[in-house]
Amino acid sequence: MTSDCSDAATSDGVPLAVRSAVRLSVKPVVGEYPRTQAMPVTGPLIDAYGRVHSDLRISVTDRCNLRCVYCMPEDGMTFLAREDLLSFEEIARVARVARGLGVTSVRLTGGEPLVRKGLVDLVAMIAEVGFDDIAMTTNGVHLAAHAEALRAAGLARVNISCDSLRPDRFGEIRRRGHLATVLDAMVAAEAAGLTPLKVNVVLLRGRNDDEILDFAAFARDSGRLVRFIEFMPLDAQGQWDRDQLVPGREVFETINARWPLTPLDDPSRIAPAERFGFVDATGEIGLISSVTEPFCGTCNRLRLTAEGSVRNCLFSDDEMSVRDVVRGGGRDEEIVTLLRRAVWSKFPGHAINEVNFLAPRRSMSMIGG
Ligand code: 5AD
Ligand code: SF4
Repeated sequence: MTSDCSDAATSDGVPLAVRSAVRLSVKPVVGEYPRTQAMPVTGPLIDAYGRVHSDLRISVTDRCNLRCVYCMPEDGMTFLAREDLLSFEEIARVARVARGLGVTSVRLTGGEPLVRKGLVDLVAMIAEVGFDDIAMTTNGVHLAAHAEALRAAGLARVNISCDSLRPDRFGEIRRRGHLATVLDAMVAAEAAGLTPLKVNVVLLRGRNDDEILDFAAFARDSGRLVRFIEFMPLDAQGQWDRDQLVPGREVFETINARWPLTPLDDPSRIAPAERFGFVDATGEIGLISSVTEPFCGTCNRLRLTAEGSVRNCLFSDDEMSVRDVVRGGGRDEEIVTLLRRAVWSKFPGHAINEVNFLAPRRSMSMIGG
């Protein structure tokens, strides 16, 4: 969907050329899908709006060695007891059942996945199931030491969070850890072949929104993909408000004015990030505009929390305990039914922009990003 009419403006005054560029990939809103009647008992994991689920996000711990301001308070987090976490065997079993239902990609998340001991072994167990893609989201603090082993075990690639390129500010936003460690982790990840490397930046108004061009320059210089993520109401402190988020469209306009961008999205691809390349350099920019440009209409994600609950959306508090099924001696067919029901009951969208929106009871680190 492009426009020849680059001077035209939309009703909110945004030039159509900008609007079309930012919304280039096709992201139908739910409601365009016919609602079907009964939950299928065969075939892929499908919800009542026709969205097929092929991506499983597995949180391996709710703990973290950092305390990012957009995620956790500095003190006072309480964490799950060891025995409440799914064991690696239990996780691998759920992953195998999900594979049989058409799940083709897995992402390991947390908290911080690398604070869980023996993670390399879990990667190997999941790789043995045979997925097309196994990725991990990490803060990078422990990554350099394990990058080679993770790659050898079957991890394909990593997303590394890094919210500032200034050491002092990195400390203010993440409260623990050092920028240099995270930059070294990026180099180690690439050396180990954990590519393409994605760098996640959560932008916060008044804290790091003056670094948009610095991060764009970083993408150009390094050839990496830098993804700007809108702040979502998933912080444990419950302090989110709309004024703190930096809209993806603003990021696009800021970068495009300095270094013209060109859309890279394949419209048929299911991905939340709108991707752009630079007209005159390597490197990529991704915009994850979860709040201002929701992509619920193409969501293909299913989540397994560290304590073994299946969750069909970051923003829905409805969870089903697969741990109860597994520890109660349940058969694989019962896991199949639970996964099907969890997906089938998915809401059409997150409704953050509705007046009566309520933030979910659990925050990002308790769910898995
Ligand atoms: N809003 C947006 N992104 C968040 N993340 C953690 N908390 C939030 C939030 N409230 C990001 C992390 C990481 C990914 C898992 O989610 O920075 O990149
Ligand atoms: Fe840890 Fe990630 Fe939360 Fe930061 S955002 S505190 S790195 S879990």
